[in-house]
Amino acid sequence: MVGRLGAADLAAIAALDEFEVHARGRMSPGGFDYVAGGAWDEVTLLENVQAWRRYRFRPRVLTGPAAIDLSGRFLGRPAALPIAVAPMAFQALAHPGGEVAMARAAASAGVPFCMSTSSSVTLEAVAAAIPDDRRWFQLYNVEDLEFTRSLVERAVAAGYQAIVLTVDLPVLGYRLRDRHSGFRAPRMANLPPELDRTADRYRGMDQRDFTLAWADIATVKTWSSLPLMLKGILTVDDARLAVDAGVAGIVVSNHGGRQLDRSVATADVLEEIVSAVGDRLEVWVDGGIRSGLDVVVALALGATGVLVGRPLYWALAAGGQAGVERALAILREELSAAFPLLGVSDVDGIERSHLR
Ligand code: FNR
Ligand code: LAC
Repeated sequence: MVGRLGAADLAAIAALDEFEVHARGRMSPGGFDYVAGGAWDEVTLLENVQAWRRYRFRPRVLTGPAAIDLSGRFLGRPAALPIAVAPMAFQALAHPGGEVAMARAAASAGVPFCMSTSSSVTLEAVAAAIPDDRRWFQLYNVEDLEFTRSLVERAVAAGYQAIVLTVDLPVLGYRLRDRHSGFRAPRMANLPPELDRTADRYRGMDQRDFTLAWADIATVKTWSSLPLMLKGILTVDDARLAVDAGVAGIVVSNHGGRQLDRSVATADVLEEIVSAVGDRLEVWVDGGIRSGLDVVVALALGATGVLVGRPLYWALAAGGQAGVERALAILREELSAAFPLLGVSDVDGIERSHLR
C-alpha cells in the first residue's frame, strides 16, 4: 500500500472531493467500496450531493466590516465551526490510527467528534486520547436493550457528552458493492467477541431486527442524564414524534444513502422539518456535505449545524490525523470566504432570505 500524504501534498489539496482519489490507493478495494457505496442503485447517495447545489445565494453587500466569527453551537455548547464529525464505523479501514486519529483531528480543529458504536477501537480508548474534548457517542441497539444500556453507561463513565441514537438501521441496507466484494466487517471493538456478529449482518446472513420503537425512546432516556439526539429523521411526522419524546435534537439524515435507497435527499426536507420543530429542538443535518458552501446552505435552511461523513474518512486514509486536520481547515477557509461574500459575519446572520 502507498504511504500517507506528507505535509506538502496535504497543503496542496484545496477541496474535500480531492481526498477520495488519494484514499482509493490506500485502502483495500472492499474497504474503499464499503465507505464509498450506498444502498441499491445509489440514487440517494448521488442526490444528497446534488440537492445542496441546487440552491442559489442572494448575497447582501455593504453590510459593513465586522470581524468574522465562524463558530457554531451544538447542544448549546460552542464549537469552532458549525460542523461535527459524523459517526462512521470501522475507521481502521482507512488508517491504523482509526477513530483515535479522527478524534484527535476533530479536537485540534475544535469541532465535535461522534464516536460510532461500530468502531475499530473502544470508546474508552478514544476518551483516553482526547479526555476533555467534545465527544458524543452514537448508539446502536445491539443485541438487546440490556447490552445497549451498558454501552450508554460506559459512554457516561468515559465522559461522552451526548448520546446520538441512530434510528434508521432496523436492518442493514441492501448494498450491492459489499455483496460483490464479499466485504466482511471487522470486529466491533466495543462488543465482546461472542456478541459481535456484525460480519454476518454485513453479508446479509443475519438480518435480525435491530428495531426500536418510539416507546423505547423513553427507556433510552432513563439510562443517562446526557442529552439524547435521534439520528435518521426524514419526515415532519417523525420530527414531531421526536419532540413528543422529549429528545434534545434530531439529525435529518438518510445515513449517507446507505440504508433505504430512493429516500429523499436531506437538503430537500431540511426546511420543512426546521419549520415544524426547529423552535423545539436542535435540528442537525448530514448527507452530501462536500464544501463550505453546502454548510452555508444548510444553515440558511435553518440547521443548527452539519455532520460531515465520507470526505473525512477519505482524508483519514490519505493522511491520518493530519489529513483530517487539512480537510477541516479547508472547510474553515471556505467559510472564511463565504461569510463575507454573503455579507454575514456569523452563523446567526445567515438567513433564509440569503437563498433562492
Ligand atoms: C456511516 N454512517 C454511520 N452512521 C451511524 O449512525 N453509525 C455508524 O456506525 C455509521 N457508519 C458509517 C460508516 C461509513 C463508512 C459511512 C460513510 C457512514 C452514516 C454517517 O454517520 C452519516 O450519516 C453519513 O456518512 C453522511 O453522509 P456523507 O457525509 O457521507 O455524504
Ligand atoms: C453503516 C453502518 C455501520 O452505514 O452504520 O455501514
